[in-house]
Amino acid sequence: MKRLYIETYGCQMNVADGQLVESILSQEGYVQCKTPDEADLILINTCSIRQHAEERAIARMRELTSFKRKRPGLRVGMIGCMATWNKEKIFDAVPLLDFIAGPDSYRKLPALIEQATENNSHPMDVILSTVETYEDIIPHHEAKGVSAFVSIMRGCNNFCAYCVVPYTRGRERSRSVPSILEEIHHLVELEYKEVTLLGQNVNSYNWKEPNKEWDFPALLARIAQEFPMLRIRFATSHPKDASLQLVETMASYPNIARSIHLPLQSGSNDVLKRMHRHYTLETYKEKIDWFRKFMPDITISTDIIVGYSGETEDDHRATMQAMREIHFFYAYMFKYSERPGTLASKKYPDDVPDEVKTRRLEEIIHLQQQLSYEHNLQDIGKLYDVLIEGVSKKNPNKWYGRTSQNKVVVFSEPTAHIGDFVKVKITSVTPATLLGEPYKDK
Ligand code: 5AD
Ligand code: SF4
Repeated sequence: MKRLYIETYGCQMNVADGQLVESILSQEGYVQCKTPDEADLILINTCSIRQHAEERAIARMRELTSFKRKRPGLRVGMIGCMATWNKEKIFDAVPLLDFIAGPDSYRKLPALIEQATENNSHPMDVILSTVETYEDIIPHHEAKGVSAFVSIMRGCNNFCAYCVVPYTRGRERSRSVPSILEEIHHLVELEYKEVTLLGQNVNSYNWKEPNKEWDFPALLARIAQEFPMLRIRFATSHPKDASLQLVETMASYPNIARSIHLPLQSGSNDVLKRMHRHYTLETYKEKIDWFRKFMPDITISTDIIVGYSGETEDDHRATMQAMREIHFFYAYMFKYSERPGTLASKKYPDDVPDEVKTRRLEEIIHLQQQLSYEHNLQDIGKLYDVLIEGVSKKNPNKWYGRTSQNKVVVFSEPTAHIGDFVKVKITSVTPATLLGEPYKDK
């Protein structure tokens, strides 16, 4: 038996890819282990979205490759988005690394491992494909899990000026409907209760059969019909492609979660234009109105970048104003990090000083905390179906779970189990969490 340890950084897509790689290597006799000390093979699944993520991965790869000094049989490979770095640069930074496989080269992993074992040649395969979707491989999912990611497409064609993803993950391609349904059937057999359909921009899902073309709303409707007991989420949606048809589809099926992640990035139209996002604050807000009109209880989360090229204090204030007006329940917030090779790195100088970025980030984090708290306060007294995901970290006598609106709820119910849906009445809140008690119909 050979033991495999995978450490994943970055987005949900990387988590799903880690499970895919586990499945590919299980065919070769590898069994997953929980710590790097037990492993025969270590894979570091990297992310390039911000410089900080890459620096952490480099530091961690140095640490993990140093284990080879004591255990000469150990092999350490790098997978994921950093594979698009040039070979010299990576092996200069991490000389003891054995091999590299890019996001479209995971089928070649067994061959790369073998080559690395045989002749110490530092093999590398980072060629991006226009067709690879790995649709014939069902990723490894833990038995009896609660919530799983299902990748429905790969790559991105949007080329937002700041973003490295189109370069690291290549062109957009959609997985076939039957292979997606097959994976979800497998998850239902394993007693999963929730799936999150994943893509960089799920709204441009497109798969053609001879007599039918599937777009994202059609796929979503099909999954919602076929799995009425499953809670269905999806991420991420590009605001420019969110359609009325998507809103109507979500509203038609109660098992599609009442929550949408719609990255705004900035509240300033000048900045959005330089980001090449292809929408304005006004058209974004119009779409939010559709979602709220059709589903009054929907929650909206977002991504915001501060300190992008040319961002003025007025632009920053426009972002804060937009956050207040739209009233996101949650936001992922980042300082702009210039990525080599992107359009922004060539055309839009990284000209906001780091201390200004830091201050602006602190301001929006503070604002979002207030907004999240206000949002949560409105839930007091309401009833929600909560899917139990696990035991609360702060209090081992309580469960934590999520509402359809994607809010975390902590409560106690001695007769319930992980994976149960429980009706909970919200009794108090913090900025990050709802607290409640089980509600029993009289
Ligand atoms: N710098 C900072 N944040 C970025 N994101 C993408 N590229 C960058 C970058 N260069 C953020 C965006 C995106 C999220 C996944 O990461 O907000 O929606
Ligand atoms: Fe990057 Fe834009 Fe594609 Fe998202 S939609 S992955 S931000 S290029």
